[in-house]
Amino acid sequence: MAFVNENFFKLSPSYLFSEIAKRVSDFKTNNPDKADSVIRCGIGDVTEPLPAASIKALHKAVDEMAVRETFRGYGPEEGYEFLRHAVAENDYRSRNLSITDDEIFVSDGSKCDCGNILDILGKGNRIAIPDPVYPVYYDTNIMAGNEDIIFVNGTEDNGFVPEPPFEKVDVIYLCFPNNPTGAVATKEQLKSWVDYALKNKSLIIFDAAYGDYIRNPDIPRSIYEIEGAYQCAIETRSFSKSGGFTGLRCAFAVVPKALTAYSLDGEKSVSLHSVWKRRQGSKFNGVSYPVQRAAEALYSKEGQAEVRQLVDFYMNNAKIIAETLRKLGLPFWGGDNAPYIWTKTIGGKSSWDMFSFLLDNFGIVTTPGSGFGKMGEGYFRISAFNSLENIKEAAKRLSSL
Ligand SMILES: Cc1ncc(COP(=O)(O)O)c(C=O)c1O
Repeated sequence: MAFVNENFFKLSPSYLFSEIAKRVSDFKTNNPDKADSVIRCGIGDVTEPLPAASIKALHKAVDEMAVRETFRGYGPEEGYEFLRHAVAENDYRSRNLSITDDEIFVSDGSKCDCGNILDILGKGNRIAIPDPVYPVYYDTNIMAGNEDIIFVNGTEDNGFVPEPPFEKVDVIYLCFPNNPTGAVATKEQLKSWVDYALKNKSLIIFDAAYGDYIRNPDIPRSIYEIEGAYQCAIETRSFSKSGGFTGLRCAFAVVPKALTAYSLDGEKSVSLHSVWKRRQGSKFNGVSYPVQRAAEALYSKEGQAEVRQLVDFYMNNAKIIAETLRKLGLPFWGGDNAPYIWTKTIGGKSSWDMFSFLLDNFGIVTTPGSGFGKMGEGYFRISAFNSLENIKEAAKRLSSL
């Protein structure tokens, strides 16, 4: 008899975005006349084509695969040196952050990295998860059997940037720019987390999937801009939202060699870099060669300009939505350093009631805040990932809210 991992029984029956997809599909079936005019501002998926630099690199790499002399089979599981070097050089060393090429681990997504990292952490860690936040951190901890989870709350009072808790925790997830609230953390706010982690020998998992959306030059794009972070933080980043790679799949985790974790009795310390390398060696076979070439191309001069253009495009969408909400006098957060706008429901509606209200009456799909945690109840998220035409239409419809 095969036994199932019973931790899955403790999860809600479906992942948030699967539930949204189901409700939208039901709406379309029940309202065939409105099916074509539904605008999806729900899931944070990109809509615009890949940057030309990546397309060119993909074609070239595919051609290489067609010729015996340049064909490639299995690549290094940590990623090809050309990409690890491009990442370390452009995202870190050029910003005076001392990350070496071999501290970069290329992967097929930050979602996977955030979940997989639990493979190398022991059972029984006390985990701090922000609320509201990207649901993957909580779900994957439940799947892994971690029960000692505390929530650090993002509220209107703290601008949706939670403060370190009074009690000691072992592992901390942070996500800035934040999904779903669009909040960003200042240097001082991140410093309080890094100081806390150093004091308590905790590990921070810093998810910077939206780092390229930061406009304010005073806001850190990387946790390593904070002194001491090399000793306490793993950073995950993704090409999904900066290069439109959600369908292509490429991301990376930075695991500094200075990072240590401890045996249960606290007597032995080990390098998390070597444990992660060991884990990837046995469980991962790398990202495909053409995709890594496409990611590398994002760092070329042409690629950088195209990434900026792509990010500007979505940020202009965010501006259009923000202006609409401002005119309506509705309170909102985010949208200035992030592609998400976080808004309060109207008339005290629950998040899911607001979701249904907007879908039924305006044909707009949003994401209910409660799907991101208890503290998200009473809020909803509008995503700026859409065509300009759809965003303008959504703004027009919302104007009569
Ligand atoms: C905070 C956050 N991290 C990670 C991801 C997933 O990134 P990837 O596409 O690289 O798996 C998302 C996707 O929406 C996200 O919002």
